[in-house]
Amino acid sequence: MPIQNPTWWKEMSVYQIWPRSFADGNNDGIGDLHGVLEKLDYIKSLGVDAIWFSPLYPSPNADYGYDCADYKNIHPEYGDLDLFKQVLDGAHARGIKIILDLVINHTSDHHEWFVKSKEGPESEYHDYYFWRKGKKPGGKKPPNNWLSVFEGGAWEYNKDLDKWYMHVFAKGQPDLNMANPKVREEVKNILRFWLEMGVDGFREDVITYISKREGLPNGFPLMPVGRGMEHWTSLPLVKDYLKEFKEVLDEYGAFTVGEAPMMTPALAKEYITDEAGNLLDLMFHFKHMEADCFLIDWIGLPFSLKKLKKAFSTWQREMHGVGWNANYIENHDHPRIINRYGSLNYRVQSGKMLAAMYILQSGTPFVYQGQEIGMTNITLDRLDQFKDVITFNNYNLVKKLGVSEQRFVKVANRRSRENARTPVQWTGEKNGGFCDVDPWFPVNPNYPEINVETAEADPDSLLHWYRALLNFRKENPVVIYGSYRKHYKSSRSLYVYSQELDGKKMLVICKFGDKPVQFSAPQGFDLTQAKQVFGNYAAPETQTNGFVTKPWECRVYMWD
Ligand code: GLC
Ligand code: CA
Repeated sequence: MPIQNPTWWKEMSVYQIWPRSFADGNNDGIGDLHGVLEKLDYIKSLGVDAIWFSPLYPSPNADYGYDCADYKNIHPEYGDLDLFKQVLDGAHARGIKIILDLVINHTSDHHEWFVKSKEGPESEYHDYYFWRKGKKPGGKKPPNNWLSVFEGGAWEYNKDLDKWYMHVFAKGQPDLNMANPKVREEVKNILRFWLEMGVDGFREDVITYISKREGLPNGFPLMPVGRGMEHWTSLPLVKDYLKEFKEVLDEYGAFTVGEAPMMTPALAKEYITDEAGNLLDLMFHFKHMEADCFLIDWIGLPFSLKKLKKAFSTWQREMHGVGWNANYIENHDHPRIINRYGSLNYRVQSGKMLAAMYILQSGTPFVYQGQEIGMTNITLDRLDQFKDVITFNNYNLVKKLGVSEQRFVKVANRRSRENARTPVQWTGEKNGGFCDVDPWFPVNPNYPEINVETAEADPDSLLHWYRALLNFRKENPVVIYGSYRKHYKSSRSLYVYSQELDGKKMLVICKFGDKPVQFSAPQGFDLTQAKQVFGNYAAPETQTNGFVTKPWECRVYMWD
């Protein structure tokens, strides 16, 4: 018996859709739900069990849906509620669950609540947000020294009210005051609205940010962005709020995964326990996304395999039997993984290795659109081709330090999350088959080579590899529930781990880089007695317990 309670959401794997760039069903250059409907069979064919939709709600797109203007509707660019229901039914008919993004740390400044809150203290919506008088004298200085993580200061002045509103993210994303019980009732209504319709769960956006320190005190002064963070990250009341929401979620048996920047395993255990009464089922932490940067993607460092192994191994060890891991290597907030941790020269080999590396660990794996065909970063020439508020904010910051636009664009091409937001490449035709008209954001010019159609036709493609991995995982409890052990701890180019369960063993060997090294099987793992179940090169005719690695080689062995 696994020591970790079997549960459906532990066994599932999830496909993430960032709707604007997934599939354009009505050929206006913007992805939509018509496109999703057409691709449901494709998604099913991957072997995933659920779709997580990044926000589908109406939004003025200050942050492409993460600024929500109406929680109970669908963005007209994507379709409408009827079309969404068709997608929901179509997914359910195929045994695929639907997980929506729940963005409740903030709304859009176009949301009706915010518009009404601007009418002043008489409005019942005024206290839905953080409206404060400026600092004395004159009130012309913001109420505290907080800086947003997306767009300058964390406060915006409103002349009519002579007050400031707070936004941890962009100006168009005013923070909701979750301490107001009316706001929490609204959240519960939103949950009920979608759960009644049949939605299966939520990915909760920056959920550890939803409580702000009483009195909104000044933050640690030296932080250049996100100053004040210690007053809005993982405060004790977050748990009280989640407990309230959980009562509604439990009525429907809904699944939750919370996004949690700077999360540590110790703190995570306060939210995700393996028992009834947990506050969240899963959490997205960021530690393994910091193997080539300092805290955020934009502060780049050379890739360190040791850091990567440590992050994965720590979370595996800490969650085993007490919580559960959400395993991912890509999403809409990070550049493509092959560019970061793999190699463009060995795109398919390194992509396969990275896929096996994380999908075969204990946990619930997430695959981001385009990851399954090995899409890569795009190279743009000019700043005005970019679209993301973070990119512009960072430019404004470094411009002051004398960094030229040209130099900045070079960095953005490697570090911006927009790399993950180019339209999905479906075919080798114009615009990768995404649309005929000009797409809302450039298609990566490598689409003639990298696209779904080509990958379907090639039995050795990454796409088929992803399918095989996801199916293999589903058929082998040792992958899902096994206990993880790291080998070759101090190697700078080998990541080797095993999973064991009820006498079954699996060994995953991942070679980072193209320089050959000698691999010898760890004690207790006799490769001559094992079955090789995966390999990104042809399997050797006879297995030996030592071999010299090929570039970005990956092998997986099983023992019964
Ligand atoms: C989360 C989302 C990100 C968004 C931010 C603000 O980090 O994943 O895309 O910009 O929250 O909502
Ligand atoms: Ca469209």
